[in-house]
Amino acid sequence: MKTKLTDQSLTPHRAMEYHKFSAKPCSSYLFFTLLLFFAFLASFADAAVHFHEFVIEAKPVKRLCRTHNTITVNGQFPGPTLEVRDGDTLVIKAINRGRYNVTLHWHGVRQLRNPWADGPEFVTQCPIRPGQTYTYQFTIQNQEGTLWWHAHSRWLRATVYGALIIHPKLGSPYPFPMPKREIPILLGEWWDRNPMDVLRLALFTGAAPNVSDALTINGQPGDLYRCSSKETAIFPVEAGETILLRIINSAMNQEMFYGVANHKLTVVAVDAAYTKPFATNVIMIAPGQTTDVLLTADQTPAHYYMAAHAYNSANAPFDNTTTTAILEYKSAPCSAKKGQSLKPIFPQLPGFNDTATATAFTSQLRSPSRAKVPLEIDDSLFFTVGLGLINCTNPNSPRCQGPNGTRFAASINNVSFVLPRRNSLMQAYYQGQPGIFTTDFPPFPPVQFDYSGNVPRGLWQPVKATKLFKLKYRSKVQIVFQDTSIVTVENHPMHLHGYQFYVVGSGFGNFDPKNDPAKFNLIDPPERNTVGTPPGGWVAIRFEADNPGIWLLHCHIDSHLPWGLATALLVENGVGKLQTVQPPPLDLPRC
Ligand code: C2O
Repeated sequence: MKTKLTDQSLTPHRAMEYHKFSAKPCSSYLFFTLLLFFAFLASFADAAVHFHEFVIEAKPVKRLCRTHNTITVNGQFPGPTLEVRDGDTLVIKAINRGRYNVTLHWHGVRQLRNPWADGPEFVTQCPIRPGQTYTYQFTIQNQEGTLWWHAHSRWLRATVYGALIIHPKLGSPYPFPMPKREIPILLGEWWDRNPMDVLRLALFTGAAPNVSDALTINGQPGDLYRCSSKETAIFPVEAGETILLRIINSAMNQEMFYGVANHKLTVVAVDAAYTKPFATNVIMIAPGQTTDVLLTADQTPAHYYMAAHAYNSANAPFDNTTTTAILEYKSAPCSAKKGQSLKPIFPQLPGFNDTATATAFTSQLRSPSRAKVPLEIDDSLFFTVGLGLINCTNPNSPRCQGPNGTRFAASINNVSFVLPRRNSLMQAYYQGQPGIFTTDFPPFPPVQFDYSGNVPRGLWQPVKATKLFKLKYRSKVQIVFQDTSIVTVENHPMHLHGYQFYVVGSGFGNFDPKNDPAKFNLIDPPERNTVGTPPGGWVAIRFEADNPGIWLLHCHIDSHLPWGLATALLVENGVGKLQTVQPPPLDLPRC
């Protein structure tokens, strides 16, 4: 094996658990020495350090009858699952043996005072060039549940992604009965060509990138696609047992509905934050989000499909295929013997544009108990999010293949975010290098208009810039994201790096600053790191800016991000070392 995966995590604890002492009065000194010794060991065991090597390299991957030279981690697609406990430290040496610049992002990890490990290219670091390495080192602090990791450089995350599972600290239980097994379910998208070329072509022509050719579950399209059914993912279950599905939407551009035939799903967590449990037949999950559900195998022993297809909220082309995997009761009768059909039972999924079902699902999410929501707000921000079109002087140019001879763009408050090239934002900030960014991002749109209504053409063209919004340390922040109907309304899954936030309200149409805040849930709103705007509506979030550094805030639809649907929050240092960004690691790549 060329690559090395060393994991010194779970074994030491397990060993510790089984030590027993029998103390005799005459040996109390020895006893206490031993006790101290084991306490010393336990202090390490409780917070393990996991060392991994992630070799980013092209490997042949065959899907839909064709083999592609796919960028992978350690030759695996999807990439390796990381399993840790709260309090553990991860040390991941990224070795770039591919032909593209790359960075890795640990989606949802707070990275307190440690933006250097966050990963978005040209935001917190310069890219790792082919042949180079960078070691991401970070500690999980008071987080548990399902997160994931992915490349954060152009469209590499189409194939460079994996699950990051954080178990509770040793001895702390889940807030629900311990499931018999836990299964990561990674939803993805597959292109029957190099995804980097799909993006490159789109950025050249100015048109929308091609939609994917397949949706996938754990990297496999499933039974409804050509040349795929032999490798459909199968999950065996014992009749009667309850399992935990850790569902991750790692797709590039597609919100999805997901369900399992004949089985109820009990939602217990989203984005590594527990929820009040509730039962549902189907979940809606946006790119970037995770949803943990319990499933009890309480149906007739048989084979059942789990399936996912698009929730398409926009007026735009999308991948309308359906990915499947199989939940297989071990005691299911064998078809060969009885001549029974083995064809699994298919779940009912909502229609592609069923916004009512999507909304009914997300509106049930609640924190388990009273949440620490900021009540007094210091920074109240109103951000319009949506697409735009850049007019061309020569609309017939091959570079203006967007609608009516334009180029697609996207913006927040009419600023279409441009990544710097000469340095990363965080490095420029830390070194005091001027000319890389400005901090005059507008707290509200430059002009007011009927955001979700009929928007005059004159307001369709955003302005390109690298503007950040500055926040004082510990400022209490509210952001209302208002979707616009420019080009099309759409569910934009907004992701904030370095933070978890509370989703205090949402609605359709234009946000009403007079009446809507009164309806906010300030008691038990759900906590997330990625939240979607209802199409043609708004969503309000609150958080305390307790993590200094520069944190990307962007739409997790990867066709919108390069068009500029992003900004970054610059959270200033507080007072003293514990409120200050730590120094960068020595191997941080330079631009
Ligand atoms: Cu999951 Cu900026 O990313």
